[in-house]
Amino acid sequence: MSPKNDVRDREVFVASGPRTLFAKIDGPLAQLDAVALSVPVVQAAVRSLDASRPNPDCIVWGTVIPSLAVSNIAREVWFDAGLDPSVPALTVVQQCATSLAAATHVAAQMKAGRLDLALCGGSESMSQTQIGLTRGMSQTLRRLAAGGGPGAALRSLGQLRLRDLRLSLPSIKERTTDLTMGDHAEIMAKEWNISRESQDRYALASHQKAVAAWQRGFYDDLVIAPEARPATERDTIPRPDTSLEKLAKLPPAFDRRSGQGTLTAGNSSPLTDGAAACWVATAAGLEAIGTPRYHARLIDWEIAAVDMERDGLLMAPALAIPRMLARQRLGYMHIDLWEIHEAFAAQVLCNVAALNSRAWLKERAGVEAELGEVPVDRINPNGGSVALGHPFGATGARILSQAVKQLQETGGRALISICAAGGLGHVALLEAV
Ligand SMILES: CC(C)(COP(=O)(O)OP(=O)(O)OC[C@H]1O[C@@H](n2cnc3c(N)ncnc32)[C@H](O)[C@@H]1OP(=O)(O)O)[C@@H](O)C(=O)NCCC(=O)NCCS
Repeated sequence: MSPKNDVRDREVFVASGPRTLFAKIDGPLAQLDAVALSVPVVQAAVRSLDASRPNPDCIVWGTVIPSLAVSNIAREVWFDAGLDPSVPALTVVQQCATSLAAATHVAAQMKAGRLDLALCGGSESMSQTQIGLTRGMSQTLRRLAAGGGPGAALRSLGQLRLRDLRLSLPSIKERTTDLTMGDHAEIMAKEWNISRESQDRYALASHQKAVAAWQRGFYDDLVIAPEARPATERDTIPRPDTSLEKLAKLPPAFDRRSGQGTLTAGNSSPLTDGAAACWVATAAGLEAIGTPRYHARLIDWEIAAVDMERDGLLMAPALAIPRMLARQRLGYMHIDLWEIHEAFAAQVLCNVAALNSRAWLKERAGVEAELGEVPVDRINPNGGSVALGHPFGATGARILSQAVKQLQETGGRALISICAAGGLGHVALLEAV
């Protein structure tokens, strides 16, 4: 085989990695920032490597909410984990798809023969988001810190205006539209006629499946206990006691005034703290990963972007999925496992409706092929982000790890789908080995 073919035919695999339990903002992980959340995850992952290959070729990590203290979080996590400083580190951000983007980024390099083993993942501490200052206040404080004596300090303070005293509170808003993700999902739900009841039913099923997965031990070897709270070992968000009646009583969380709001705290993913890792490897790299080594072949991936005003902010997976499947000459029934990130129950249901619409496929996705009907009973058999939580930077690795474990149990093909802020959608196709 020529070296060129060797590279082109290189198989790439995704293998499961550890994650922390996921917990709501201001819950049991609140004392840990995004770096501290990541450290035990990265340590546990690297500890599992074979002694003959104690390090990955690189770590690619991400967090979505910016921190003033940390720029390349991948490197800082590696340092705090006390690991070999000769391993390169890269930080990527693609909002909710961040750690899936980390995985496909290194997969492309593996296809090109540049890497064999990469640790990918991310983290989010919603409990430790920093509050910003206005530009005027920041400039004043910077000048004060630079010194220059009492006169200069008084002059700087004298230039402050009332409006400079405002704080910039973090919120999950689109910068260009000034609407939250929830506001945008409400608009999508109305456009696709997704009822409150169908969202609540979807959310209830997500909780029931997450609770059942924990009960059958599915998550036991995927989730590590955080060192700070060794007694807390499980995700704290799935609710065994929720019901349609309880969900139906919750008030709208975003569209509170019109009387038409359908998204609630119960059918939206909660603000979550957590960190997650997964491995991406060639066949040679895979050998170094210790147990559990659930893994699957990465076949393809696709990234799409929508015009959010026209198509809806979180609708890009409904462009990426048909384009990738058409390229692979697959229909929806060929996918045995659908791991779809649940930003909101409404967003999953809107995307399913679009995937089932021939007009959408043809006019928006540019796909003529007949793909069939989405088999909704194959979506998220172990629960999704509504019930498990959604630490933005960690969700992609959480989904990849549990998808490869599920595939190893059941065989077949898995579709990974993550919608992201800015109107982006990142999807991937895995196949059991
Ligand atoms: C939806 C959102 C605003 C709710 O925030 P919140 O009001 O602080 O949420 P809480 O967890 O306190 O829940 C509110 C209430 O609903 C209840 N509740 C939540 N989920 C429930 C469920 N499944 N069953 C029953 N009750 C539930 C809570 O117990 C709480 O009740 P209480 O007030 O009596 O204690 C917030 O989670 C959010 O912004 N989510 C979206 C995050 C996002 O945009 N992510 C990006 C996606 S792209």
